[in-house]
Amino acid sequence: MPVITMSSPKGGAGKTTSLAVLATQLARNAPVAIIDADKNQPIVTWSKAPGFPANIEVISDITDANFYDRLDDVARRTPFVLIDPEGTANVISSLAISAADLVIIPLQASQLDADQAQRALVQVTNQERAARRRIATRILFTRTSTAIQTRTLRHLKVELADAGVATFETQLVEREAFKAMFSFGGTLELLDSRQVSSPDKAVANARAFAAEVVQVLKDLEHERAA
Ligand SMILES: Nc1ncnc2c1ncn2[C@@H]1O[C@H](COP(=O)(O)OP(=O)(O)OP(=O)(O)O)[C@@H](O)[C@H]1O
Ligand SMILES: [Mg+2]
Repeated sequence: MPVITMSSPKGGAGKTTSLAVLATQLARNAPVAIIDADKNQPIVTWSKAPGFPANIEVISDITDANFYDRLDDVARRTPFVLIDPEGTANVISSLAISAADLVIIPLQASQLDADQAQRALVQVTNQERAARRRIATRILFTRTSTAIQTRTLRHLKVELADAGVATFETQLVEREAFKAMFSFGGTLELLDSRQVSSPDKAVANARAFAAEVVQVLKDLEHERAA
């Protein structure tokens, strides 16, 4: 425990990449399990390349029928469980939301993507009503530009704040290093500047994101205890 689910019915929103970045940073301090619930098995493939952290366990072959059994088993013995559903709303993506302590919705800064994020939020609301509990949810802006805050991004932030939707302060910037983790295998820390530009900046970005996730989880824990 806790369980973190990446969610967005939009294909290519950045779920798998953000999850991998988060998992490798969390794994620097504690064992992590990833449930690869995407039938294309991107995390399974990445985990087979050299340099994959020994304390990240990858669980695959997830079905509607075995989802809770596999999750309960791994959550009992692992400090962090991260779930990567596929890019269309389906039964498993709903189950993954219903089981989450924190849902992260990656969002690229375009109005079209924001409409998709709205669908992701509706999916969370439906699971909240079914489970009769609040499910903490945060939007993560991904693939943002290092140099500028675009007008669309500023506009979306205001829109989300007005709608009472929480966003991470940290954004995952568009960086070659985040793609390179998958092509070279292993972690960001293993990339060097001959393979990809500014791996150190990607590492700093990844650490800021993971630190914020840990803080959000702590805050939620305190809220629950209060
Ligand atoms: N921060 C980033 N910097 C650079 N490239 C990124 C970043 N985030 C995602 N990408 C790229 O965007 C594409 C889609 O990302 P990813 O596979 O993580 O999305 P996804 O939501 O998991 O997709 P699917 O719905 O198909 O599972 C990939 O090519 C990935 O390398
Ligand atoms: Mg994916």
